[in-house]
Amino acid sequence: MDTYSLGRFPVHRIGFGAMQLPGPGVMGPPRDHDEAVAVLRRAVELGVDHIDTAQFYGPDVANELIHEALHPYPDGLALVSKVGAVRDEQGGFVPAQRPGQLRAAVEENLRTLGVDRLAAVNLRRMDEHELPADQRIPLEDQLAELVGLRAEGKIAGIGISTATHAQVRQAIEQAGIVCVQNAFSLVDRSDADVLDLCHDEGIAYVPYFPLGSAFPDMPKVTDNATVRSVAERVGASPAQVGLAWLLARRDNVLLIPGTSRVAHLEENMRIADVSLSATDIEELEGGA
Ligand SMILES: NC(=O)c1ccc[n+]([C@@H]2O[C@H](COP(=O)([O-])OP(=O)(O)OC[C@H]3O[C@@H](n4cnc5c(N)ncnc54)[C@H](OP(=O)(O)O)[C@@H]3O)[C@@H](O)[C@H]2O)c1
Repeated sequence: MDTYSLGRFPVHRIGFGAMQLPGPGVMGPPRDHDEAVAVLRRAVELGVDHIDTAQFYGPDVANELIHEALHPYPDGLALVSKVGAVRDEQGGFVPAQRPGQLRAAVEENLRTLGVDRLAAVNLRRMDEHELPADQRIPLEDQLAELVGLRAEGKIAGIGISTATHAQVRQAIEQAGIVCVQNAFSLVDRSDADVLDLCHDEGIAYVPYFPLGSAFPDMPKVTDNATVRSVAERVGASPAQVGLAWLLARRDNVLLIPGTSRVAHLEENMRIADVSLSATDIEELEGGA
């Protein structure tokens, strides 16, 4: 499997996202605890050395499962988390964007994962218009807090998530970020300019919603007729085609597809073997 560098960590291009491990709505215990643990162990066995998580997945559930399944962690495993939100009792995502809240979230991630340092932490930005006044924090102040945490050795790299082209540019200049985590897939290519910027700057681009969102009522790559037809022709599943297209798009793309099922994990890990021709790619981009 090819690698790309996530700051100082050279990681395989197919990683794993832990968001599907907690229960429905990313809240509470998993549907099947033993399978969640098995998914994580199998992922590492198959070469995953980059796991994306968040303390607010569960909350705590994803991090505790990662700890249970994999601690003591293998050398070179990059654990990446995100900060900027907490959960309310109904499972709602509540903004927690103030510098002190970002620091507290990093500390919580270190504690629940049982590590002294995270490979990277993504600052999960939120739409300013949807934030209460006390949560509208200048990006500069948020990045300064993360730069401080990096200087203290609590995080090795800084990332930014759900960020515009201008915000990514600012984060590169102010904080020397190592990754950007934005939504991008065959059915939503609106972030292509940020992907290109990251490529030119040598920064990892980690698409979330790589198959479209797991949340209801959002378009799914696997439902797309063109994806399904190309998949049949190349002898792969629609999910594999959607992921292989992302890998083919740019060499700085690091995938973190998530699943709660060992069978889906194994299918997703096999995409390194799916090769898409220029004609396949043209058809996918024209039809999806
Ligand atoms: N920065 C952010 O704001 C942000 C936002 C969202 C997500 N993320 C991160 O990005 C990762 C990926 O994001 P995501 O929202 O797309 O969630 P995801 O965790 O990749 O979930 C994808 C969905 O696809 C299904 N799936 C996975 N493999 C499949 C396969 N081979 N065939 C059919 N279905 C399959 C999963 O269901 P099953 O469990 O049934 O397989 C799940 O419902 C997340 O795990 C999380 O770590 C970050």
